[in-house]
Amino acid sequence: MDEDSGGYGLIEEGALLLEGDRILWVGPEAQLPAHYAQAHRHDLGGRLVTPGLIDCHTHVVFGGDRAREFEMRLEGASYEEIARAGGGILSSVRATREADEAALLASALPRIDTLLAEGVTTLEIKSGYGLETETELKMLRVARRIGRIRPVTIRTTWLAAHAVPPEYKDDRAAYIRDVVIAGMESGHAEGLIDAVDGFCEGIAFSRDEMAQIFDHATRLGLPVKLHAEQLSDLHGAEMAAQHGAISVDHLEWLGQDGIDAMAASGTVAVLLPGAFYTLRETKYPPVQALRDAGVPIALATDCNPGTSPLTSILLTMNMGATLFRLTPAECLTGVTRHAATALGLSDRGQLKPGMRADLAVWDIQHPAELTYRIGFNPLHARFVGGELV
Ligand code: NIG
Ligand code: FE
Repeated sequence: MDEDSGGYGLIEEGALLLEGDRILWVGPEAQLPAHYAQAHRHDLGGRLVTPGLIDCHTHVVFGGDRAREFEMRLEGASYEEIARAGGGILSSVRATREADEAALLASALPRIDTLLAEGVTTLEIKSGYGLETETELKMLRVARRIGRIRPVTIRTTWLAAHAVPPEYKDDRAAYIRDVVIAGMESGHAEGLIDAVDGFCEGIAFSRDEMAQIFDHATRLGLPVKLHAEQLSDLHGAEMAAQHGAISVDHLEWLGQDGIDAMAASGTVAVLLPGAFYTLRETKYPPVQALRDAGVPIALATDCNPGTSPLTSILLTMNMGATLFRLTPAECLTGVTRHAATALGLSDRGQLKPGMRADLAVWDIQHPAELTYRIGFNPLHARFVGGELV
């Protein structure tokens, strides 16, 4: 199945030819060029094949959990109130600082394996629960290790600008200088960082603070992305787009200026329905205006212990349709082609010659079934870099 052609580009009785870790040819089996007739054949039994799914926004490595905070929110406390009282992100920071690499890895693997079991072949992992250089780097070392011990591509993101830790609460500038920027330089030197992110919000960082951080990332040659317009409109998306951001994520409060700037810079809008659902948000991201402006829309789990304890990319697709009124075809491109772009990857997310042979094989008849079902996993197999896993 090739979904480059507006709809799904579904090919009946199709065949894919793989060579090494790449796709060499895609089309109806009857048209397979004769000189490929000798290729080793693997019969997929008429099943449907999509690109391997891509979860382009996660915080899947963290210590502890936030079940008690979930209860507090159900008792009436808001996410912002809990954060301002030292809970929220800061409670995961305490647990993540205490955990060593082995413990972080052990707690992340069941979540990772749940995502892979649903056809994920590329996964982004952010730091952001250390808020001190060593712990931020520890998180990213664990992320890199996951990519070595599981068949999946991991993309790492430096998110030290997630919250200001208590020890710096009276000197934000020092935190930005000594941890966010200095730590970014160390992590970059160690090859641990693929992109730089931040949380632009009243309870986190201002637009000007984020612009300063992005200037440093750009100097290091690192792509930038931003958590923006989740709880209020600080015009972070516009600033990020002006910095050439590969994605801006959340976006419930995004206004037309931000949309126009994102359209001009080719920035992907990553919508996170798991956080919308968990926070029982009522403000919807401006899906129709994003479509009208031609901004590519991606979907991701945002897997994190606070606002989106979600480890299902298929449920994320279902929520994208049911909560945000995306079409099932948009949900599929949102976790394949546009999710690849949101990670700055141009070699995957579509079934085309030259692309990486990352495939998901499904026991379904029609691609809309991936979005339609709730809590059902029809994955038959994954191919990662041309290998059946
Ligand atoms: O993507 N928005 C900020 N960061 C995370 C939540 C982190 C947390 O509460 O632990 C998010 O939703
Ligand atoms: Fe997030």
